[in-house]
Amino acid sequence: MNAKKLGNGLILRRSTAADADLLADFNAQIHGDDELDRIRLAAWTRDLLAKPHPTFHADDFTVVAEVETGRIVSTLNLISQTWTYAGIPFGVGRPELVGTLPEYRNRGLVRTQFDEIHKWSAERGELAQAITGIPYYYRLFGYEMALDLSGRRLGYETHVPKLKEGEKEKFIIRPAVNDDLQFVVELYAEAQKRYTLSCVRAMDIFEYELNVQSRDNIGHKDILIIENEQGERLGYFQHPDFLGMTGIVVFGYELKPGTSWLAVTPSVVRYLWQRGQEFAKRDHRTSTSFCFLLGSDHPVYQALGNALPVVNEPYAWYIRVPDLPAFIHHVTPALEKRLEDSIAVGYSGELKISFYKDGLRLAFEKGKLKEVESWKPESGDDGSAAFPGLTFIQLLFGYRSFEELHHAFADCFWEDNEARVVLKILFPKRLSDVFPVA
Ligand SMILES: CC(C)(COP(=O)(O)OP(=O)(O)OC[C@H]1O[C@@H](n2cnc3c(N)ncnc32)[C@H](O)[C@@H]1OP(=O)(O)O)[C@@H](O)C(=O)NCCC(=O)NCCS
Repeated sequence: MNAKKLGNGLILRRSTAADADLLADFNAQIHGDDELDRIRLAAWTRDLLAKPHPTFHADDFTVVAEVETGRIVSTLNLISQTWTYAGIPFGVGRPELVGTLPEYRNRGLVRTQFDEIHKWSAERGELAQAITGIPYYYRLFGYEMALDLSGRRLGYETHVPKLKEGEKEKFIIRPAVNDDLQFVVELYAEAQKRYTLSCVRAMDIFEYELNVQSRDNIGHKDILIIENEQGERLGYFQHPDFLGMTGIVVFGYELKPGTSWLAVTPSVVRYLWQRGQEFAKRDHRTSTSFCFLLGSDHPVYQALGNALPVVNEPYAWYIRVPDLPAFIHHVTPALEKRLEDSIAVGYSGELKISFYKDGLRLAFEKGKLKEVESWKPESGDDGSAAFPGLTFIQLLFGYRSFEELHHAFADCFWEDNEARVVLKILFPKRLSDVFPVA
């Protein structure tokens, strides 16, 4: 994209590495809640613009600036990454750091930049865009809240398991080094099988986090390795180098298959408590909790049970799927597998799914999805099931069941029983947890 005149003395252009300081300052001021937050947002912006990143390039921010002064008045970016749907990889564009100066708000500047990055994302062949963001806003740009985000459980000092008199820690926790990363990558990939939607975090991502990303980047998490007394690696977890709201927060805790969560987790919690106190001392804060931010369900929740008394239900990712037939075509093997494993094995038939103004037509033959195409409901042919607005994306992403959608939206319904049965098989409600690339 060449710089584009927007009128009113503004231009839209792509960022360059030379914008790093100005954009870091802009994002810190627009998004930061306090001084430490501002430092971390600035570090994230600088990392994206001025350091090599596995998927992000220095020109992946849009910038709206005043022609006369060059002052940046609005910006956002697109962080490309790969997610999986039931094990099938697909490209995702993640808009982030969306902000406009107060005096330039409500003039459509963010809308214009979303139009631009949606084009970039399409050019990259990405089948979806996903954003974590303020309530409601991104619905305006074709997004639907359709995926769990940031479910967590928390415990307090009283829930930290105590070592018995004379008992020694059986598990040792130490910072990861490069030689550990292959182990971490493999454990992460194994854990992905738990989720319908997840983010691919291959070697390039972990190497970036360990060796390149700044430790004060708001998205940075240290990687810790758990070993037994013989020095055998059993698992890993990650946490930022600073406290969350009330204490330390863990991401990506995984153990090697065959390792007991019940046996290992108490050592992890004792480590977390201790580390939280160290951070509190260093940053002149108090640390009163430990937290596992691992979605709506995770083995550690079972291992700790009542020792994680605070349950924060997930917020939601906003998801945009600009070309539904293309997305469904891409994940066809997953859908056919669901049919194959179901009571409708070998299904032949046609599903016309209405979104009222438009819709989808899926044609199956002997359990194979032969055709997926856009379809328009008409009077006399209004389809086998209906989903208002973008609600079908909630079903597609396994976020809500057909019954839940029907309960929430009276105009989400099915015309015939066979369609209902097959849709439930094709799109079951399933656990997802996305740890995105930042
Ligand atoms: C939210 C924010 C990015 C919007 O920027 P903006 O340049 O004013 O956005 P636009 O003018 O392009 O907004 C497009 C539409 O959204 C509406 N809108 C703006 N802010 C909104 C909000 N917070 N909630 C709902 N709608 C909003 C506008 O009225 C406009 O509607 P229209 O197209 O029907 O006229 C800006 O207010 C901001 O920087 N806020 C502080 C940082 C922040 O919260 N960023 C988002 C983090 S996820």
